[in-house]
Amino acid sequence: MSASGRNQLSRRDFIKATVISIGGLIGAVIGMPSVAYLLSPSLRAEEDSASIDLGPLEKYPIGVPTRFEFTRTKVNGWERTTTNYGMYVVRRSESEVRVFSDICTHLGCRVTWHPDQEHYVSPCHDGHFDIEGSVISGPPPRPLDEFVTEIEDGNLLIHLPALKRTS
Ligand code: FES
Repeated sequence: MSASGRNQLSRRDFIKATVISIGGLIGAVIGMPSVAYLLSPSLRAEEDSASIDLGPLEKYPIGVPTRFEFTRTKVNGWERTTTNYGMYVVRRSESEVRVFSDICTHLGCRVTWHPDQEHYVSPCHDGHFDIEGSVISGPPPRPLDEFVTEIEDGNLLIHLPALKRTS
């Protein structure tokens, strides 16, 4: 091969390398924002705290667990999540109130209040909880989760998420 042939080949390599570099740069400039957009919801911190108004406290009878439900939809980037919340409001006096999640702490079935037994009963494995959400019998490892409450202008507010209790 002559010296000019080697130069020609080297020029070709240079052009090839330049084209690949410019193509890679253009790909990175176009691709990076797309990848960042797709990944951003999963990288963002989960924002699941909120205050929910359960209405006037006086509508909840004293001494009788009263069920309350709502649905909450969260939009996180391109992801849309709808969650159904269920809870029992237990008003102990004019001003003392506790609100328990209806999610059984065993495997997550929804408990219901049985006035005849004065227990919350989980239908899945017969877990029983007392009116304050403490475990009476069955496999649940801990009491029902509890929401922090607040009374504002006579209305009952709870704060999400529900807190885990150990006893
Ligand atoms: S899910 Fe409630 S006892 Fe198993």
